[in-house]
Amino acid sequence: MSRSAHPAGPRHADVLPEGHYTAPPADLNALDPRVWSRTVTRDADGVATLGGIPVTRLAEEFGTPAYFLDEDDFRARCRAWHDAFGGEADVFYAGKAFLSRAVVGWLHEEGLNLDVCSAGELTTALAAGMPAERIAMHGNNKTTDEIERAVTAGVGRIVLDSFQEIVRVAHIAERLGRRQRVQIRVTVGVEAHTHEFIATAHEDQKFGIALADGQAAEAVRRVLKLDSLELAGIHSHIGSQIFDMAGFEVSARRVVQLLAEVRDEHGVELPEIDLGGGLGIAYTSEDDPREPHEIAKSLSDIVTRECAAAGLAVPRISVEPGRAIVGPTTFTLYEVGTLKELPGLRTYVSVDGGMSDNIRTALYDAEYSVALASRVSTAGPMLSRVVGKHCESGDIVVKDAFLPADLAPGDLLAVPATGAYCRSMASNYNHALRPPVVAVKDGKARVIMRRETEEDLLRLDVG
Ligand code: LLP
Repeated sequence: MSRSAHPAGPRHADVLPEGHYTAPPADLNALDPRVWSRTVTRDADGVATLGGIPVTRLAEEFGTPAYFLDEDDFRARCRAWHDAFGGEADVFYAGKAFLSRAVVGWLHEEGLNLDVCSAGELTTALAAGMPAERIAMHGNNKTTDEIERAVTAGVGRIVLDSFQEIVRVAHIAERLGRRQRVQIRVTVGVEAHTHEFIATAHEDQKFGIALADGQAAEAVRRVLKLDSLELAGIHSHIGSQIFDMAGFEVSARRVVQLLAEVRDEHGVELPEIDLGGGLGIAYTSEDDPREPHEIAKSLSDIVTRECAAAGLAVPRISVEPGRAIVGPTTFTLYEVGTLKELPGLRTYVSVDGGMSDNIRTALYDAEYSVALASRVSTAGPMLSRVVGKHCESGDIVVKDAFLPADLAPGDLLAVPATGAYCRSMASNYNHALRPPVVAVKDGKARVIMRRETEEDLLRLDVG
C-alpha cells in the first residue's frame, strides 16, 4: 500500500518526511472522477457541487460533519453489477457496507438482492419491503433468535458457517415446519492481498468451514442427511478491498472441485455457487479498480471452464459486492476548525468529525483523498494530515494529503469514497453524535438517516 516520499517540497520542507504520498497533484483543485461520485463537479465559483447543489449550501442546510450520497451513482452501480452477468447471476448487495431503508428501496427497484448478517440488518431489510426470498443471512455466530427470525421470514438462503450451525438451523426449521434453503460457507485457503483484518479465506481465522482437510465435504454429508435443509450450494468470500482477480480464480476453482466431489460421492449436482464480495474501489488516484463487467467476465469464464473440465453443468453464480456499490457514491463533508503547523514536517488540520465517523484509517491504515470543497485556491501545496476532534492521537481521517497552503478555519473539506464501512462502523466515541446521511438526486437533497441528537444519547443512558 505504501508509496514513496517525493522530493518536491511543500511550503515548509526541503525534504518531505516519510509517508504515504507521491508528488503534490498538478492541480490541487481538481476532483478526480475515479474517486468522486458521478455528479460531483465544481460550479463557476469553484465550489464543489453534488447533483448541482453547492457543498456550501449542503453544509448550511444539513450541518457538518455529514455524509452526502449520490443516489444516481448508487443506482447506476447497482445496474452495472446487475447487467454485468447478463442476468446469468444474482447480485446480493452486502448490507454491512451501509444499510438504511432508503437503500433497501433502491436495491429492490434496481433488481438486486440483499445480504444481511444480523437481526438488525434483517429487520431493516424487511421493514423496507425487501422480499424475504431475496435476502441471504450470514454470520459466524448467528443467535437462535436470529435464525428463528430468518427462517420465519422465509429468507432465500441461510449461509451455514459451522458444524454447530448446521444442527441449529435444521432444528429450528424442523420445529417451524419449514425446509430452509442453505449454502455452506467454505474457506478455500487463499491468501487475499489485503489488510489482515479484512482477509477471510485463509484457514487461521473465524469464518467458514475449511476445504483443505475434508471438513467442507463432511459438512455437505451432514446437511444432505437433514430433511429440513435444502442444500443449494457452496459459498466463499475471500476478503475485502481486493484488486487482484487471482484469489477469486483460485477460490472459484476450489469451490467447483468441491461440487465435483459432491457429485461423485452423492450423485447430486448443487445448483449454486456464491463467490462473495470484496472487490476493491479507488480511494485515491493511485487505485485502479476493475469494472463490474470485467470482473463478471473473469468469474464466469473460470467457473465455466472448471465446470467443463469436471463435466458439471454450470451452477448459478452469485456475488456480494458491498463496498464496490456504495463506497464511491458518498463523500464526508467536514469543517476545518484549527490548524497546527509543524515546520519541516506537516500541518495538522483538525476537522469537526474524525474516528467516530471514519474508523477505517485508524483500524486498517486505510488511505483516503481529501479536497478543499468550499472554494478553489491558487496557493501552493501544503503537506497535511487531516485529523478529527477526538481525544486520541490515532484519530486520523487522512494520513497524508496535499491541501492548499492558505487553508483556514471555516473552510469545508470533503473526503470522497466514504460510502462503505464509515457510517455503518460509526461510533459515539467521546459522545460524538453520529452524522446524518443525506441522499442527493435530481438536484434535491433529503436526509435518509438523521443526525443523532443529545436526546438520543440520553435516551440510551437510563440513569
Ligand atoms: N460477503 C461477505 C460474506 C462478507 O463478509 C463481506 C464483507 C462482503 C460480502 C462484502 O464485502 P465488500 O464487497 O464490501 O468488500 N470493515 C471493513 C470491511 C469488512 C468486510 C466484511 N465482510 C472495511 O472497512 O474495509
